[in-house]
Amino acid sequence: MKTSAIRLGATGALLVGMAGCGGGGGYGGSSGSPGTDPNPPMTATFASIQSHVFTPICSACHAGAAAPQGLKLDVANSYMMLVNVASAEVPSIKRVAPGDAANSYIVQKLEGHAAVGARMPFGGPYLDATTIGLIRQWIDNGAAQ
Ligand code: HEC
Repeated sequence: MKTSAIRLGATGALLVGMAGCGGGGGYGGSSGSPGTDPNPPMTATFASIQSHVFTPICSACHAGAAAPQGLKLDVANSYMMLVNVASAEVPSIKRVAPGDAANSYIVQKLEGHAAVGARMPFGGPYLDATTIGLIRQWIDNGAAQ
């Protein structure tokens, strides 16, 4: 009896402590203090796209042995699975064709006009035009690693 009362008390204190945290963190990292933001605003580079899009959004599905269409977008695999690799759904189109965003299958999937399957991220919410524009720019600039 006495023990359970103490446990309840401890749990209550823990819940109050968590509620007081103010909901920091989350995707984007814009709430950090100046100079310590681990994830600065997205730019048209592979590393930035990885940390803003592929890792937090796409690799929820596109990772591991069951990755859809064999496409893994986690940090260890994404570049070699995208750049100059044929799409599984439309093999005549590269997932990322360096210098040619319009004919890169990933762009068609993100914009929702690919010939096969659904718009990505599957089920939404979809990427905004600015984010897709940065991915297009990275590809048009040559898709460097
Ligand atoms: C909720 C799970 C899910 C998420 C999140 C998701 N995908 Fe997919 N993806 C799928 C499924 C399932 C397929 C295969 C069916 C289809 O194309 O509709 C697919 C197929 C693809 C293909 C086609 C691959 C090929 O070789 O033909 C690409 C490219 C792709 N996804 C990119 C992305 C990108 C980029 C993101 C993140 C912005 C993303 N996906 C997020 C589930 C997901």
